[in-house]
Amino acid sequence: MLRRLHAEQPDSFAFTPANLAWAEGQITKYPDGRQASAVIPLLWRAQEQEGWLSKPAIELIADMLDMAYIRVLEVASFYFMFQLQPVGSVAHIQICGTTSCMICGAEDLVAICQEKIANKPHEVSADGKFSWEEVECLGSCTNAPMAQIGKDYYEDLTAASFTKLLDELNAGNVPTPGPQNGRYSSEPLSGLTSLKDHESGKTKYNASAQLASDLGDTVKRIQGDEVPLLTPWVGKDGVVAGRAAEAPTPPVPATPKPAAKQAEEAKKAAKPAKKAAPAKKPAAAKAEVAEAEPDVLKAARDGKADDLKLLKGVGPKLEQTLNELGFFHFDQVAAWTEAQVAWVDARLTFKGRIERDGWIEQAKKLAAGEETEFAKRAKDEGTYDK
Ligand code: FES
Repeated sequence: MLRRLHAEQPDSFAFTPANLAWAEGQITKYPDGRQASAVIPLLWRAQEQEGWLSKPAIELIADMLDMAYIRVLEVASFYFMFQLQPVGSVAHIQICGTTSCMICGAEDLVAICQEKIANKPHEVSADGKFSWEEVECLGSCTNAPMAQIGKDYYEDLTAASFTKLLDELNAGNVPTPGPQNGRYSSEPLSGLTSLKDHESGKTKYNASAQLASDLGDTVKRIQGDEVPLLTPWVGKDGVVAGRAAEAPTPPVPATPKPAAKQAEEAKKAAKPAKKAAPAKKPAAAKAEVAEAEPDVLKAARDGKADDLKLLKGVGPKLEQTLNELGFFHFDQVAAWTEAQVAWVDARLTFKGRIERDGWIEQAKKLAAGEETEFAKRAKDEGTYDK
């Protein structure tokens, strides 16, 4: 199957404020220069928000992580979990068609999708509510046949129970995930024949089905304020564990809480009556500074630009942006005033980076012919020009 960008694309994509705060928080997990490691979580959150990955979403994430667009598209098109075309507004149904599921009736489920949703996979139904596809084994073979709907597994399906599921979703309900034939997990349908002690203490559903049922987010599009934003790797002083005190200040510090407390808060936040306020963007916390355009150049002096990638946080894409704005030399960056930093910052996709990564201090050293720790490491590792 060809995986490519959809023919029809929206004009733009933006994370919700809470999802943006979440994404910026995730980026602080990774060491300086390794922010690209956040690409899969960010793509996934974009898909959780919109249902699929559009070209503007892929490009925004590339800009946030200072990656070339093609690199992010490579990731998005490699993993089948990423949808590159619009999906149904209510649910995208993934039917496992691998051996166990196939011999237990997956073909019947596919036929129902063809009849009730659309003839071809990845086509959205006429009412826009559903789409479907056949996927490879999802690792739930003991409960075959099964389907993943949204984030959850619906198992031990029959044509009748699957039709009922679709009808419920169509009516705006979220059916409880897990086995649909009365099984608790993957025990014999007639009950345990040995190790019967393990039958004690069952709740109504098994743990994952219970959590999905409690959170009720199975097919929900994620806005980011469903559960509290936690960044336990960030200390109370705003410094990421294991990094120097002068290291970038993470945007979304949060006080770590005990696991039980987190679970309790997650449940509360999932209840529609009490919606958490969107997390504040780090830039928003700062007082506004009037912008002033710095001196820019049409081209590098003597045709020889400095390697701006030796500044922490600047990769090939960001260097290109800086060059397009008229900055080619360390001494230009070193001379920026606070108002000029605000001017440049307003023209970068990922705000606050200049201050957070300490460009001006680094640029002053590099312009004076000195070495910075980051530049030295980047040269040693040979990574800065990649
Ligand atoms: S064969 Fe369907 S889940 Fe493994």
